[in-house]
Amino acid sequence: MDFKIAVLAGDGIGPEISACGVDVMTAVCEKFGHKVEYRNALCGADAIDKVGDPFPDDTYNTCLWADAVLFSAVGDPRFDNDPNAKVRPEQGLLAMRKKLGLYANIRPVETFGCLIHLSPLRRDIVEGADFVCIRELTGGMYFGEKLEGDDRAYDTNAYTRAEVERILHVAYGYARRRRRHLTVVDKANVLASSRLWRKVAQEISLQYPDVETDYMYVDNAAMRMIQDPKFFDVMVTENTFGDILTDEGSVISGSMGLLPSASTGEKTPVFEPIHGSWPQAKGKNIANPLAQILSVAMLFEYFDLGAEGRLIRDAVNASLEANVRTPEIQVPGGATYGTKEVGAWITDYIRNH
Ligand code: IPM
Ligand code: MG
Repeated sequence: MDFKIAVLAGDGIGPEISACGVDVMTAVCEKFGHKVEYRNALCGADAIDKVGDPFPDDTYNTCLWADAVLFSAVGDPRFDNDPNAKVRPEQGLLAMRKKLGLYANIRPVETFGCLIHLSPLRRDIVEGADFVCIRELTGGMYFGEKLEGDDRAYDTNAYTRAEVERILHVAYGYARRRRRHLTVVDKANVLASSRLWRKVAQEISLQYPDVETDYMYVDNAAMRMIQDPKFFDVMVTENTFGDILTDEGSVISGSMGLLPSASTGEKTPVFEPIHGSWPQAKGKNIANPLAQILSVAMLFEYFDLGAEGRLIRDAVNASLEANVRTPEIQVPGGATYGTKEVGAWITDYIRNH
């Protein structure tokens, strides 16, 4: 197929890992005879500095032009400790999600055998854990009515039936392609919004009798993910709970630098690493490009190009086996590879296999 790709490199380590993702995408397209055209666009702090807006209209239009967005990371410490900042890089991310209607955020938690020793969990607990968190991404507290006063402030956790229904259908779709077990995570013992989620989920579950559905309070889910991550196959939850649980999920595999994600919905889908912009590492050639590279695999898989995705996953596994690793996951005494070197090794592997 012909691909039009919007490349949003963003801030911090974004540009370095983005370059690796683009190289891998190009190598796979050459190999499989797909045409690919890229357009770069500004986002995050970089866009604030250059044009005063973290998700400018030009960027939005480039995303609409594209078949998919390859996104890297946004965020800059200059804004983090300034509660008075008028505009923040993260607003660009939220604007992108809202404007592209990206209501379904898919965050797989997979373990890599050769990295299990880096997990904060015991090997017997984490080995073989493999689940997907489906996070609702355009509703809830992130986008509900807000008040920001000096003496009083609130965020509203609003959901409509339609918003809950559509994300549940996405989640059931994943469950059907996996081990047919869906856990609906909410706080229905306290929150009205969660009771709507649970009611709608109980109704929708009747349409998927082949999937086992269970319901879990979010506090309990946070605990279960640590005690028994293998319990989960697919979990679905609202925006804020999903934000928190996916950070928890991302570390149990040993390194946050390994996990990709996809955000899909009404318009162009976005593929990005789960980790952030790691400003301290900017320009140092030490960031792990694997999450970004695996997000390219998710991109191909989204378009039903499984062999392309498989080749990327094989290349990543081969790089780990060969100990071609960035410092944070390198084995003791192993040589150090930079972002560029890991990216180049994987690109070569793809060309030669
Ligand atoms: C994430 C991030 C974002 C979120 C931030 C950067 C706004 O933490 O994608 O999980 O809270 O959604
Ligand atoms: Mg988060």
